[in-house]
Amino acid sequence: MSDKVFSVAIDGPAGAGKSTIAKSVSKKLGVIYVDTGAMYRAMALYLIREGVDMEDAAAISAKCKSADISIRFEDGVQQVILNGENVSGLIRTEQVSNMASRSSVNPDVRVKLVELQQKLASETSVVMDGRDIGTVVLPKAEVKIYLTAGSAVRAKRRYDELAAKGEKADLAQIEADIIERDRRDMTREISPLRQAEDAVLVDTSDMTVEEVEERLLAIVKDKVE
Ligand code: DC
Repeated sequence: MSDKVFSVAIDGPAGAGKSTIAKSVSKKLGVIYVDTGAMYRAMALYLIREGVDMEDAAAISAKCKSADISIRFEDGVQQVILNGENVSGLIRTEQVSNMASRSSVNPDVRVKLVELQQKLASETSVVMDGRDIGTVVLPKAEVKIYLTAGSAVRAKRRYDELAAKGEKADLAQIEADIIERDRRDMTREISPLRQAEDAVLVDTSDMTVEEVEERLLAIVKDKVE
């Protein structure tokens, strides 16, 4: 594998398995995994704490300036730091997901977090996942993957995840939510989710995690000498 700094950009809709795969592939490659969704979530947590109305774009633009977001790694696992506090354990709630989905459409939020992501990738090799990594954040990434799966498959995976935790869920409702989130992510004005022209499409609907991992490693080896 190359000694020079390289980037693997993984984009795709929610529930396609991006973070699971990005994590394992980064480990195999011996490079860091940057979860950009966690940064948008940390920003959302800050805005909630500040009492910002999620429909108030001007307030989001003004307030996001005073959030200092950074990441560090503990035992290879990304930790998100918000104004000096490690908030990694606080950003996976429904409330934060909803705020993140709204606040991530804000241009001032995006400019700030994209800058941080670009700085990280310029310093060290990364596997970075998100919605706009191959198209906007790292347009020159050596490897670009667009990971997707049918909405029914993604809904079933989420349903099984919740069931494993003993939580009750409605499969049809989960799929409806997924379709709505896809629509919002793909039709937003700034940095919508779309496959970069030079990205390799990997549809994981009928693949196991191991198969996806193997496929991605093969793509990386092919592109990074
Ligand atoms: O991948 P996730 O669910 O943790 O992302 C949280 C939110 O942030 C989600 O609404 C999509 C948004 N996001 C984004 O707009 N751009 C990224 N690069 C990553 C996430």
